[in-house]
Amino acid sequence: MAHDDADSTTTEAPTRATRHIGLSLGADICWPKCYEQILEILDPVIPWKGHDIRLQVERVTMEPYDLAQPCKYDVVLDRLTHWLPTTREWLKKAILMDEVYVLNNPWSIQSMEKHTTYAAMMHLGMPVPRTWMVPPKSYEDHPDLRRTLHNYAKLFDLGAVGEEIGYPLFMKPYDGGGWRGVSLIKNEKQLRQRYEESGAQVMHLQEAILPHEDFVRCLGIGPQTRLIRYDPNAPLHDRYTMAVDFVDDDEARLLRDTTLTINSFFAFEFNSCEALKSEGVWHPIDFANACPDSQVTSLHYHFPWLVLANLRWSIYCAVTERPMQRTPDWKPFYEIAEQKDMPYEEKLRAYGAIAEKRFETERFQDFCDTHLKDLEEVAWEYFGSAPARQAFREKVQALYPPHEVEQFTELFWKRVQRWRQDNKPGVTTETRQTVTEA
Ligand SMILES: Nc1ncnc2c1ncn2[C@@H]1O[C@H](COP(=O)(O)OP(=O)(O)OP(=O)(O)O)[C@@H](O)[C@H]1O
Ligand SMILES: [Mg+2]
Repeated sequence: MAHDDADSTTTEAPTRATRHIGLSLGADICWPKCYEQILEILDPVIPWKGHDIRLQVERVTMEPYDLAQPCKYDVVLDRLTHWLPTTREWLKKAILMDEVYVLNNPWSIQSMEKHTTYAAMMHLGMPVPRTWMVPPKSYEDHPDLRRTLHNYAKLFDLGAVGEEIGYPLFMKPYDGGGWRGVSLIKNEKQLRQRYEESGAQVMHLQEAILPHEDFVRCLGIGPQTRLIRYDPNAPLHDRYTMAVDFVDDDEARLLRDTTLTINSFFAFEFNSCEALKSEGVWHPIDFANACPDSQVTSLHYHFPWLVLANLRWSIYCAVTERPMQRTPDWKPFYEIAEQKDMPYEEKLRAYGAIAEKRFETERFQDFCDTHLKDLEEVAWEYFGSAPARQAFREKVQALYPPHEVEQFTELFWKRVQRWRQDNKPGVTTETRQTVTEA
């Protein structure tokens, strides 16, 4: 189906226009190279509302700027907001003053910690494991600290909280990420010990979903999702497994709805949702990962999916000038959550439907089918080429000791070649792995 905003009805000669995509990068090496090189080969000219639109990609640099100075980018893919304030504040200014479309929303990243995301999704009915927040063992000094604690801090029995949750449990920072400060705790003695060591960090205690039958990380980029089975006990290069089709259609739908609900609720457009399955129930445990791992050294087999998904979504947002979701809009989710008689499965489908609408799933797919027909073919060829191998090698060089560079470049290369075998264009549509409406 051709959508209304395609350019088929215009009679005047199209004018040329360029959309600028900025890559705001840190230690990223492999994916931006692949992204840029594929785009250069594809070099699309997209007819859109009377214009022939080309795309130009460039890397964002850091420099002083006048707040009134306009920003030339239409879309920015950002990897720095979560730790670099100057970039985060520049992005906010660019969104507020220049209507730049940024992935991800910097205000969401700054304020939606693990804790907030747990609370909100528990309210929507998601089976997040039982979680307690405990005051920290020690505090940063502050002139009002002594009086405040003296007046209001209640002495508490940590052992009783542990008993209430049950062992084993996990202790982890309320705003965690990168496996920092995460411990598995099996008894009260360990709980007290770890708490003593936690210092000024504010910690959660969370029921452990152990043992579990399965562990998934669902990557979401706009309306595109990919389920990856995850093995946290494997060495780093084997944690993302190469399993495909490891869940049935109903579970795939549930995990997609879960991920898209989270992302659209928090205005994340690039996120990863971790869920553990126990006794048939998928428990989301970590879903405020708004700068997810994008490196070939961890994603390997799934890496081309990521590059392709990034290309599709950023091109779509740039060309169509889709307005960015600047502020959260929680009301429609709450209205569904408050329907007392509606079973959770139905609620989740309804949340998922809101998310699909916000992410314009159908319009996006039409756009890709109409304007990015050659992308899969180009990417498939590219991921078998010397420049792709060189991009992988550079990432491996940055992470591995010199004597392992050859071995690991070869390993990741072979896994990507396996992706090529499994995803020959025209043979399967698995690369996009979107699930049609049930
Ligand atoms: N409730 C839980 N039940 C079982 N395992 C858990 C639970 N919480 C955390 N884990 C384990 O600890 C790991 C790290 O926890 P979590 O993902 O919450 O922290 P993180 O700092 O965000 O880590 P990462 O950046 O690797 O995602 C998880 O990948 C999982 O293996
Ligand atoms: Mg995690």
